[in-house]
Amino acid sequence: MKITDNSFIFKQLGKNDKFPYELLLLADPSKKMIDTYIRHSEVFTAVYQEETIGVIALFPLEKNTAEIKNIAVKPEFQQQGIGTFLIENTFLAAKNNGMKSIMIGTANSSIGQLLLYQKLGFEMTEIKRNFFLDHYAETIFENGIQAKHMVVLERSL
Ligand code: ACO
Ligand code: ACO
Repeated sequence: MKITDNSFIFKQLGKNDKFPYELLLLADPSKKMIDTYIRHSEVFTAVYQEETIGVIALFPLEKNTAEIKNIAVKPEFQQQGIGTFLIENTFLAAKNNGMKSIMIGTANSSIGQLLLYQKLGFEMTEIKRNFFLDHYAETIFENGIQAKHMVVLERSL
């Protein structure tokens, strides 16, 4: 669906707001995994014409670092800058909270995501070998290759 104006907003979810699982599950196919981090994360959404079209979850780590554990945009709204908008606003929110760097992890098979994160200044720091084999019951394939390892990237703020 084409976004015709830039009236989408970045909004932090409150304590009593429901988590948008239908979006979170696009980025992380395991509800069990999502539930290990979502309640301890700051969760922000992109809202367009009163509809939640994107989500991003920022999980605090030690030493002024936080990790984007989940980012997803509704399929019909992808490729229009919403993912970029969510990440850039999360950088600002994290910086305002005294964070010094942000990490993000994605699968070896997530080619488009690896491209997007590097365009936004993230640099690869580590490979968590077999992460997706060890933590997910389901076999995940993307771009014709199996998701096995997690590529960890980091950006200074
Ligand atoms: N092929 C090539 N490039 C791609 C692809 C792809 N399949 N997907 C994304 N990109 C890159 C391109 O660089 C593109 O920029 P361009 O349009 O200038 O070529 C850019 O990403 C798109 O940027 P946005 O429009 O800002 O991003 P979008 O709103 O589409 O959101 C997101 C990106 C969140 C990854 C979305 O595709 C999505 O929800 N995917 C499904 C869920 C997912 O995979 N989430 C990430 C998992 S990892 C994690 O959550 C930590
Ligand atoms: N985007 C997406 N996929 C690509 C791209 C691209 N820009 N380029 C190659 N691919 C992938 C695709 O999976 C494609 O398969 P598909 O057609 O099924 O989608 C596959 O590569 C193409 O395979 P081939 O046709 O067998 O490879 P090709 O004859 O094009 O040769 C090579 C690939 C050698 C990398 C060629 O593009 C090239 O000479 N590039 C310039 C030199 C170079 O970069 N060499 C590698 C440097 S690293 C090193 O030398 C150790």
